Amino acid sequence: MSLFWRIFALNAVVLGSATALLLWAPVTVSVPVLLTEAVILVAGLGVMLVANAALLRIGLAPLDRLTRLMATVDLLRPGQRLPEGGRGETAELIRTFNAMLERLEHERASSSARVLLAQEAERRRIAQELHDEVGQSMTAILLALERAAADAHEPLRGELRQAQEITRGSLDEVRRLVRRLRPGVLEDLGLVSALTSLTTEFATHVGLRVVRRFDTGLPLLDQQTELVLYRVAQEALTNAARHAEAGQVEVSLHHAGEAVVLAVVDDGRGTGVAREGAGIRGMRERALLIGATLDVTSPPQAGTTVRLTVPLLRKQP
Ligand SMILES: Nc1ncnc2c1ncn2[C@@H]1O[C@H](COP(=O)(O)OP(=O)(O)OP(=O)(O)O)[C@@H](O)[C@H]1O
Ligand SMILES: [Mg+2]
Repeated sequence: MSLFWRIFALNAVVLGSATALLLWAPVTVSVPVLLTEAVILVAGLGVMLVANAALLRIGLAPLDRLTRLMATVDLLRPGQRLPEGGRGETAELIRTFNAMLERLEHERASSSARVLLAQEAERRRIAQELHDEVGQSMTAILLALERAAADAHEPLRGELRQAQEITRGSLDEVRRLVRRLRPGVLEDLGLVSALTSLTTEFATHVGLRVVRRFDTGLPLLDQQTELVLYRVAQEALTNAARHAEAGQVEVSLHHAGEAVVLAVVDDGRGTGVAREGAGIRGMRERALLIGATLDVTSPPQAGTTVRLTVPLLRKQP
């Protein structure tokens, strides 16, 4: 039934009942009106309005649901749909809206895939240049300082050694930056080694206690999936270090049924009512890229859990 006829029918039911009541009930209206008659009329009007409101509410409920979903829908949490069914304008509207969501989710997923791939390529390029240009020059400086220090006398020699130390520190920093930008170990030695070196780095440089629980015999994952798992672990660890005030973080990688699950669990103060920023949204986008789901949960006084569930039999989009 179209919306027009639906509302018309609702009003017809209410007005028809009122008219029937006037026709067959023992009611008379005098001129001028008596107090008792006025009270009965006003009460009747009240009943009519309440009935009308109730029926309209039921009749318009699908539109209410539609408005709510329109206001709250989040393309990074795909799959939110309204129940379809029936005929008429409202059902058609809901079907069209569902189809539009489907299309938008698809477009969002493919555009964020493009952005993420471009971002990874750019990171690789910067890492390459840092490694080949800056890294090589600094190594050359280090060697030159070493030669100069060997030939020099005190106090110049001491100063040269000091410059050597500073350069060595900076070179380490550049190498760390390169590793962060392009996890070469991921390509060379695989996910478990990459996560191990990532967590070791967090433990030594951030001072977090990191517990690792990696299943043995994990299934072989493609390169993109491994990169997503690695980047999500990296952001979750960074968040734990920056915001959680945690003492310990546990990073685990499990193979459960037809899925691989990465979990980063800290024992910090939890996210509270904090809004999702670029970091968590970025994790969601990466999850979409491989058809995985990301959950960030933070029960009161129980730290934060970031869980990425990667289905092994991926649905083709
Ligand atoms: N492990 C955590 N413990 C406590 N609070 C957290 C944790 N992870 C995230 N939060 C809260 O959630 C907010 C959003 O995190 P998100 O990673 O999206 O953004 P960010 O870390 O603030 O910035 P960005 O990651 O873009 O540099 C944070 O500002 C923080 O308040
Ligand atoms: Mg963050």
